[in-house]
Amino acid sequence: MQDTEPSWPGDPRTELAAGLSAPAAQIAPKYFYDRLGSALFAAICQLDEYYPTRTERLVLAACLEALAELAGTQRTLVDLGAGDCVKAERLFARLQPRGYVALDISADFLAAALARLRREHPELALGGYGCDLTTRWSLPDEVPRDGRLFLYPGSSIGNFSPDDACAFLERVRANAEADGQLLIGVDLVKDSATLAAAYDDALGVTAAFNRNILLHVNRLLGADFAIADWRHVAFFDVAHSRIEMHLEALRPLAVSWPGGERKFAAGERIHTENSYKYREKEFAALLTRAGWRSVRCWTDPRRWFAVMLARAD
Ligand code: AVJ
Repeated sequence: MQDTEPSWPGDPRTELAAGLSAPAAQIAPKYFYDRLGSALFAAICQLDEYYPTRTERLVLAACLEALAELAGTQRTLVDLGAGDCVKAERLFARLQPRGYVALDISADFLAAALARLRREHPELALGGYGCDLTTRWSLPDEVPRDGRLFLYPGSSIGNFSPDDACAFLERVRANAEADGQLLIGVDLVKDSATLAAAYDDALGVTAAFNRNILLHVNRLLGADFAIADWRHVAFFDVAHSRIEMHLEALRPLAVSWPGGERKFAAGERIHTENSYKYREKEFAALLTRAGWRSVRCWTDPRRWFAVMLARAD
């Protein structure tokens, strides 16, 4: 792990306190990913109900040959929100990258993942940075500018509103040279029941993931959330084409932190996540709007998940 950090916001406490004090309380989804949260997300990815991970894996396996021909070898893979790095690692054998640079908000979790990668791929130049991709980030100078292939798998793009997604994709484009490319995973619109089940699994792992954000906020802000007071709520909002996740107060309660307090009525909610779902054409248009040329779109037979390749020029 290197300590030069491409982007870290000043103090999360200011942002968290403002979100909790707003009339419609909210906590940004990046706060899911403390160490336990990252591990819970990795567990979500193994659930039957959570189709995106395995669908993307199948699509990528099927398109890998075509992808390698379009992207070529000896690139620097830049993994945006790398997590456990396993998605990128599956590309190494065929893409033969000259380097791998991983960015993630969960710096500890990333450091552990990179230590493992370093043992398994001792020949590969590896770099890692704790980075908040929702701010104005850019890659440090030591990362070669040419030949970058950005990876943004898993439909993490879904956490941004379409306008913010466009701004984010423009920022990625600004970090690429003319030979830069972007491989991005996009979850597609499908029936509401399938979508809702993916965000409210029978085992309760997603509920634990959602509620764990409060433990993270307790540590970051010095707040006194009691997990038992909050229940997980997730649903698909067709009009906005997004999954919404919330935490709902089970009884009237007050939460306090140094310098602030918030009262919640029974049934009042804290909005913790949006996960936008796109149609293939819509997302291709978004890539174009952000200054990318969309090259290819691969999907599964049910058209549940798309993997798109775009080039800078
Ligand atoms: C990491 C943003 C892609 O939206 O599906 C999974 C996060 N939240 N289950 C998603 C998540 C609840 C996930 N992303």
